[in-house]
Amino acid sequence: MGADLLEVLISREELDTRITELAAEIDADYAGRELILIGVLKGAVMVMADLARAIHLPVSMDWMAISSYGSGTTSSGVVRILKDLDADIGGKHVLVVEDIVDSGLTLSYLVNNLQSRDPASVEVCVLLRKRAAAQMSVKVAYTGFEIDDKFVIGYGLDYAERYRNLPFVGTLAPHAYSAGPTPDQQENRADPEGNTSEVE
Ligand code: IMP
Ligand code: MG
Repeated sequence: MGADLLEVLISREELDTRITELAAEIDADYAGRELILIGVLKGAVMVMADLARAIHLPVSMDWMAISSYGSGTTSSGVVRILKDLDADIGGKHVLVVEDIVDSGLTLSYLVNNLQSRDPASVEVCVLLRKRAAAQMSVKVAYTGFEIDDKFVIGYGLDYAERYRNLPFVGTLAPHAYSAGPTPDQQENRADPEGNTSEVE
């Protein structure tokens, strides 16, 4: 596995420290309120598990799985729900937990969709935010780390479903994907309409 990596961007210890800080902010902000954490499968599994354990407030956890549609390799912001929430969020305080914001299209769709269900509030917590992401108007209340516009893997993030189990965030060496699709094309699969879909 080591030979595939270019660099460790964020170590296990740095992740742990930052997630503890975010959890303390969330504890303070939501004191006395009923909070539902909504994780976006599959990338947010690691951050959700660690964040939830660092939060001291009683929270419930729910999950959504979505796939983005686009033409070619660009996300169009058209998102399909593959797995919806189990519970009703009407009147509840909701915090969406996501691995990374890139263009912001996926999260803005998701936030709009959740807002239409009349929750008391919807906020977003992302582990990573690419600096270029600022262009899309998604309000992110809690950000773990701002990173450069590089393709990253590990701690939930994948390249073609691999590397999610790395305990740190890293960048891939080019030879690790030179034989296959580029990271931007990963998991893009043609469908009969000529669109592609990417499971988050
Ligand atoms: P957006 O709609 O462009 O913000 O896309 C965000 C989604 O694309 C994330 O939830 C990830 O699933 C995926 N993604 C974006 N950048 C990366 C990356 O560097 N590594 C792995 N997945 C990424
Ligand atoms: Mg994702």
